[in-house]
Amino acid sequence: MNLTEYIDAKKDEHLNELYEFLRIPSVSAQSEHKPDIERAAKWVADKLRAAGLENVETLPTKMHPLVYGESLRAPGKPTILFYGHYDVQPAEPLNLWTSPAFEPTIRGGNLYARGSADDKGQVHIHIRALDAILKTAGKLPINMKVMIEGEEEVGSVSLWEFVNANKARLKADALVVSDTGMLAPGVPSITYALRGLNYYQIEITGPAQDLHSGIFGGAVPNPITILCELFAKLHDKNARVAIPGFYDDVAKLSMAERKALKALPWKAKDFRKTVGAPGLSGEKGFSIIEQLGARPTLELNGIWGGYTGEGAKTVIPSKAYAKFSTRLVPNQNAEKITRAVERHIRKLLPKTVKYKLDVLSEGKAWSAPYTHPFFEVAHDALEKGFGKRAVFIREGGSIPFVTQMHDTFKVPCILLGFGLPDENAHAPDEHISLENYFGGIKAVAQFYEGLGQLKS
Ligand code: BES
Ligand code: MN
Ligand code: MN
Repeated sequence: MNLTEYIDAKKDEHLNELYEFLRIPSVSAQSEHKPDIERAAKWVADKLRAAGLENVETLPTKMHPLVYGESLRAPGKPTILFYGHYDVQPAEPLNLWTSPAFEPTIRGGNLYARGSADDKGQVHIHIRALDAILKTAGKLPINMKVMIEGEEEVGSVSLWEFVNANKARLKADALVVSDTGMLAPGVPSITYALRGLNYYQIEITGPAQDLHSGIFGGAVPNPITILCELFAKLHDKNARVAIPGFYDDVAKLSMAERKALKALPWKAKDFRKTVGAPGLSGEKGFSIIEQLGARPTLELNGIWGGYTGEGAKTVIPSKAYAKFSTRLVPNQNAEKITRAVERHIRKLLPKTVKYKLDVLSEGKAWSAPYTHPFFEVAHDALEKGFGKRAVFIREGGSIPFVTQMHDTFKVPCILLGFGLPDENAHAPDEHISLENYFGGIKAVAQFYEGLGQLKS
């Protein structure tokens, strides 16, 4: 059996194995899921071993374990580091899922479960591709290092330390990641830019305790009102972030790149449909694709305080809270942006309240040229797997490890994404298209095979 025949013959096995993975609720943000995190790490290690990788280990960190494995039996051939994550975002609100979040279910050509697209399904694509090559050819045509982490969805907190302490172990000629998406169904895509992410939480305190809103209302500062006023001032009428200095270092797109982005096979109509809002709002002067991939943003991610239970409770709350974040683009400096945010908030908030601003994580953007010969191999492999020429895209999401690897080793990072824009990553009813999952296994297997034709 050749490689593609083998992959086709194993379709049920691929799926059943992925179901096992998806049934483990490895939510990195919630401590009650710590045992599931451990279980998922062990599951990944077992599958890497079964595929034929060597020196497989689960490595403890201060938070969640990393899984590492390798196969270094192709002297003179390229060494590839594959990175992915086995942790997932919380599944709540559970009642909005059509089928349970951790019970994989197929409907209409899609596989539904938390982690199906982000990132367990995509990690599994690589495990099965490596397994197929090793089972049909007996060995890999390249040297392979595999690292799957369990903290990506909480900012990859332990990773920096691990990378710095394990430079020799992680050194490779290229980084390969499948944790992004395709531009549109049937349009295989290679991502060459990601935005960075700074994440913050603010707590505003007015009165020392909750107060009766009749007895006290009218004379005391309401922290929720003040929080809302603050956030209403952080954008101007052109949807630009109104923090002084925020755009100072933003890299301008070249005319050539703007033209290339404009020529992508992408329809604003489909985007509007995926979003489902009555209208769109974005920074004036930029196309939607530019707004998503090449412009920085500030977004409120959560806001709470006061009484939100059943019925009415007339209260002036003591505290109000918000979680918010900025997406960064080249060449913004993450720490400098935090200082600008801190300075502006200090200036805007009235002296009638106290506040505390916490920085939960910081990370700058990544972008790189796609001129290395490895990209040609990737391009051809995607065409073999999907029957269509791949496009090069910028993505709006963030993957801290890509930035770290690129800065540390200055190697090409090849991001092959198999998710789709409407696959509800981080939301209820997350799913992956079965066509992309199976096509992905073939494309990735072809990719690793193709790299074996090159010299290190
Ligand atoms: N896989 C995503 C990142 C992503 C999604 C990149 C879509 C490109 C397109 C990743 O799991 C993720 O969600 N990252 C977080 C950042 C992290 C620091 C919490 C994000 O982008 O919000
Ligand atoms: Mn991901
Ligand atoms: Mn994610």
